[in-house]
Amino acid sequence: MRTLFVVSGGDAPGINNVLAHYVRAAAQNGDTVVGADGGFPGLLNGQIVTLQAEQLIPWMGRGGSIIASSRDPVLNQSYADEQIKAVLKANNVDHIILFGGNGTLRYIPPLLKSWGIACIGIPTTIDNDVPGTDLTLGFDSACNFAYHAIDGVMATAHALRGRIFLVETLGGSCGNLALAVAQGSGAHAVILPEYEYEDTWLAERIISALKSNSYALVVTCEGSRGARTLADDIPKWTGTRVRDVRLGHAQRGGMVSHRDRVLAADMAHMAFTALKDGVTTGVTVVENGRVHLQESLAFETTISPDRMLYETLNGVQAG
Ligand code: F6P
Repeated sequence: MRTLFVVSGGDAPGINNVLAHYVRAAAQNGDTVVGADGGFPGLLNGQIVTLQAEQLIPWMGRGGSIIASSRDPVLNQSYADEQIKAVLKANNVDHIILFGGNGTLRYIPPLLKSWGIACIGIPTTIDNDVPGTDLTLGFDSACNFAYHAIDGVMATAHALRGRIFLVETLGGSCGNLALAVAQGSGAHAVILPEYEYEDTWLAERIISALKSNSYALVVTCEGSRGARTLADDIPKWTGTRVRDVRLGHAQRGGMVSHRDRVLAADMAHMAFTALKDGVTTGVTVVENGRVHLQESLAFETTISPDRMLYETLNGVQAG
């Protein structure tokens, strides 16, 4: 059995762990594993690298991906299917394991299936926005990264009082990451792309936090209204300067948390066992805390952050 790994879209902490666990299981079974260097464009160009467990184990604490990804949508080229099949044949590849988020797993596994290529998808994104799984690999690590940063902010907030901190998470147009971080860090307000808010409400919320807590912590997602302007607007409303903390891409490339390490090990085991048993299509999903293989994802159009949690954290009805 020869497996090819492809990473498509944004990387996420935990990818290296899946690789390490899978490669070790494969070696014990007398199988081999290769990776596409540079996602699907790399695959189309025949850029295939061999993966070995000893090489991967030291990467298990690190985010990113030891095999490079790509966001280029090359599979819509008319020649893509023939070219991929030729590269797979030339490298004796039996099936693909595909890492990706919402955009990747929505379209690519069904496309590969229609081309007769066996593929197991592994949901990897810090955004936790893949419908069909309660949890994506990388989300927990990205939350932990934010907590470390906010814990540092809180230490100085208690030493120098009367300050407003605005912490911006990644997440694109999905607020799941920011909402989880806000809950876990005890923020006074959370601003998400999916729910509208009144500026006057936010101003009052901040002023009241400054009075009762001696600091105010607002968490926002990068895709929210005001993400790029609130640091200038809030001082106009409150008379207090904002200390602006953008976690940026460092949040995506942080250390791998315990939860993600265990999840990666379970997903690797699930994918390896399924392929060994002759399964030709599926996605590893988490339901009620357990990993299992689902034939395909039941895609809704969008995923919305928990409205009730948003309302509880903000003390206001979601707009
Ligand atoms: O992969 C998801 C994500 O990390 C989002 O949270 C973020 O908005 C986006 O990718 C950033 O994309 P890029 O790396 O292309 O700037």
